[in-house]
Amino acid sequence: MIQILKNYPIASLNTFRDDYFTRYFVQSDSPEAIAQFLEQHSELPYLIIGSGSNLLFTKNFEGIIISPDFQEKQIILEDNKMVLFQVGASLNFDEIVSFSVDKGWGGLENLSLIPGTVGAAPVQNIGAYGVEAKDVIFQVTAYDLKEKTERNFTPEECQFSYRNSFFKQNPGRFLVTAVTFLLTKNKHIYHTDYGNLKEKLGNTPLSLKKIRQTIIDIRRSKLPDPNLYPNAGSFFKNPVVPESVFKRLKANYPAIPYFEINSQYKIPAAWLIDQCGFKEKKYLRAGVFHNQPLVICKFSEETTGKETAEFSQKIQKTVSEKFDIQLEPEVSIF
Ligand code: EPU
Repeated sequence: MIQILKNYPIASLNTFRDDYFTRYFVQSDSPEAIAQFLEQHSELPYLIIGSGSNLLFTKNFEGIIISPDFQEKQIILEDNKMVLFQVGASLNFDEIVSFSVDKGWGGLENLSLIPGTVGAAPVQNIGAYGVEAKDVIFQVTAYDLKEKTERNFTPEECQFSYRNSFFKQNPGRFLVTAVTFLLTKNKHIYHTDYGNLKEKLGNTPLSLKKIRQTIIDIRRSKLPDPNLYPNAGSFFKNPVVPESVFKRLKANYPAIPYFEINSQYKIPAAWLIDQCGFKEKKYLRAGVFHNQPLVICKFSEETTGKETAEFSQKIQKTVSEKFDIQLEPEVSIF
């Protein structure tokens, strides 16, 4: 089945709630039907969306927005230790985390309360609290819109890296239809080393449910509620710099936080933005969130996507002038 709507308002399709229009909005549970529609409109650009939690629109979208509808979930294989759980790309990611934790399956709990759909997880290689999607993905099933065939990708073929993947590198070519997670049924490996997670967990015995609830509590205390302040989570990636740059920064700012990864240094963008004084300002339109300045919020329903993008450029310019570091958006801007 395919549903095609013309000049469709996109406010409900993105968490910034920007109310521009798209030339076409296409919803379908058939990759073949989507491929056929795209072929008939090959002159137009297109964008495949999940729940729009990582997008910023700055104008009308003169093309096709595709919202796939793949809702199935099934156990592919299980024994007394592991389960291979295949999940449709359009399902809500956190509902799958919640479902897995309730079943006693381990692996997804640190990714609790991340907004978005299952299909976005491998594209973005979503991550939080020391775990990335790549750590639990066994296989990604995607329809190749160019070759018109469905294909399974191993984690190696997905070429995962920090908020990046083969799918992100080849935008628009693949329609993720399902993701298969490899989850533990016992002997769970708990990841508790990130930030203050261990401290928040306290001394009582660990369990999947406890980790999920603690992470939900931490996220709720730090991150803005998108219903109150429209946002798209972290707006920028954390920059990864070589040792020479890190040494220069450390000499000037001895207290700089960092994570060393293979002789490179990941600097929290939140810290860079904080040091530029953005948290101290009062915002009536677009601004940073007071508890987590990596998140840009709309503080008025009247704020446009264009203004939000301009504000993000102001942050980039200020950080660049102060630290000589270029912040790269994590959010896709159109
Ligand atoms: N910091 C400040 N000032 C602040 C807040 C934070 O200086 O007001 C500094 C602190 O040094 C803190 C550091 O920033 O230790 C890191 O902050 P946090 O632990 O909140 O994580 P993050 O690096 O800002 C990343 C992900 C988040 C994810 C959290 C938790 C990216 C771009 N963001 O944020 O993911 O939830 O870690 O794992 O990697 C998202 O991608 O949308 C997202 C929210």
